[in-house]
Amino acid sequence: MKTILITGGAGFIGSHVVRRFVKKYPEYKIINLDKLTYAGNLANLHDIENSPNYEFIRVDIVDAEVIAGIFNKYRFDGIIHLAAESHVDRSISNPMEFILTNIVGTVNLLNAARTIWENNLANKVFYHISTDEVYGSLGETGYFFETSSYDPRSPYSASKASSDHLVRAYFHTYKLPIIISNCSNNYGPYQFPEKLIPLSINNIRNNNTIPIYGKGENIRDWLYVEDHANAIDLLFHKGRVGETYNIGGNNEWKNIDLIRKLCEIMDQKLGRAEGTSAQLITFVKDRAGHDIRYAINAEKIQKELGWNPSLQFEKGIEKTVEWYLANEEWLENVTSGEYQKYYEKQYIKR
Ligand code: NAD
Ligand code: DAU
Repeated sequence: MKTILITGGAGFIGSHVVRRFVKKYPEYKIINLDKLTYAGNLANLHDIENSPNYEFIRVDIVDAEVIAGIFNKYRFDGIIHLAAESHVDRSISNPMEFILTNIVGTVNLLNAARTIWENNLANKVFYHISTDEVYGSLGETGYFFETSSYDPRSPYSASKASSDHLVRAYFHTYKLPIIISNCSNNYGPYQFPEKLIPLSINNIRNNNTIPIYGKGENIRDWLYVEDHANAIDLLFHKGRVGETYNIGGNNEWKNIDLIRKLCEIMDQKLGRAEGTSAQLITFVKDRAGHDIRYAINAEKIQKELGWNPSLQFEKGIEKTVEWYLANEEWLENVTSGEYQKYYEKQYIKR
């Protein structure tokens, strides 16, 4: 039996990865390490929490001593590292949390892996989950390739870029077996409603305005979260050690077009007259340093491992809306308390 560590497993993408691994690999013991910040929620894993091959440990990856102790106890065979502060707007108002978790936390995990694997690196892998934002911002044309130079422009992307560099440095310096993937924007069930799509769904549902930064002309490349989890599964098992892989949806949308599409679907699902939800669209002050366009070239993972996004966006977004409307209790729970204070600071007081 292999023991696999997944960090950040109570978050959005992490919960999909944990669920997939617990169900698909009964021969693995899956250990989920998560601090349970505002973004981590054990309700995301309710359906698998009693599985015999699953264990949750609440821990802050910034605490080097505790991390070393856990690694020493469990002697992990593989690591999939997703724990991070992940929201760009929060990184603009409070960068230090991002430096601590995304950089210091990652180095703590690298050091702990190095210590337990020192004499036996065979069949081990430290798989670091990263973002396309490390490559910066594109103009109207072009794509991010694995060879594109790094040009992060927000405290979030700079902290992720820094962690990528450190992960690569441990490969070159200490021969630590690593893999990195850089993915585009994910969407789907269990995404915290601070991010564009679930925030808009929640606001439309409550008849609140939909805040669009600037003119809504920024472009993102959207991927359904389970397609990302599938890519992570493939790379963890079959990716080449020392390599970086880009993952993307080949699915670029201007924010305003995406939100108009979402409004149409919400009108249908809520039984509202066509055009009702779109009236909630409100243009607000732009995000500082707002990256114009992200677009991923994902040919490497497609050619090497045959990975492709499985879900067409129109289907994926409809499925996502249906999930949020069927899980209003989840939405209510995560948008009470602290969320209200965040929302007010981010959208009402500025
Ligand atoms: P998320 O914010 O939903 O979840 C992050 C998880 O990490 C939470 O469960 C949180 O409790 C946990 N965490 C935060 N700080 C921690 C700490 N100090 N110690 C232990 N746990 C901690 O994030 P997400 O959207 O699921 O993103 C997961 C990973 O994927 C991140 O590394 C992110 O950079 C990367 N990524 C995200 C996207 C996206 O579109 N969401 C795209 C590409 C890459
Ligand atoms: O590209 C991958 C990245 O995608 C991940 O690394 C990040 O963790 C993830 O948060 C996401 O970053 P973005 O900044 O692209 O996602 P967000 O949902 O915050 O914003 C998407 C776009 O919508 C962006 O152009 C900003 C805009 N936006 C966002 C919010 C929250 C708005 O116009 N209004 C909003 O209220």
